[in-house]
Amino acid sequence: PIEETLVLVKPDGVARGLTGAILARIEAKGYALVDVRLVEPDRERLEKHYAEHAGKPFYEPLLEFMQSGPSVAIRLAGNRVIEGFRSLAGTTDPTTAAPGTIRGDFGRDWGLAVQQNLVHGSDSPESASRELEIWFG
Ligand code: CMP
Repeated sequence: PIEETLVLVKPDGVARGLTGAILARIEAKGYALVDVRLVEPDRERLEKHYAEHAGKPFYEPLLEFMQSGPSVAIRLAGNRVIEGFRSLAGTTDPTTAAPGTIRGDFGRDWGLAVQQNLVHGSDSPESASRELEIWFG
């Protein structure tokens, strides 16, 4: 099915100048950019986005990191794009993410309390519609 998903190039990806390289991989895979915007999210938006992680040890560092600079929010469309983008991104931990994936090729483990892992992708159709509403309204 044609789906839409929310992709974020997180502050580490934007700061390292990797937005173009990440967008190139997404486009090469054939997914469609429906909307792209630079966003500096406030805490309230991040609390909504990361509600499921509230109380976890990395939660506060995560919210701080996500406010450390702009992110690029992408409304992305394509057949099975939710699963497909997560496959392009690789696993959460950049050290073990497979080479060939965004996190595997570009991700660095800085040894911090939060994984600065360059990108976010919605993990289910429910998350995608919830998160697209949060970032694009
Ligand atoms: P993301 O896909 O945006 O969803 C939650 C984020 O929290 C995740 O990417 C990482 O940035 C971070 N994260 C998830 N699990 C851990 C963990 N065990 N330790 C540190 N950070 C994590």
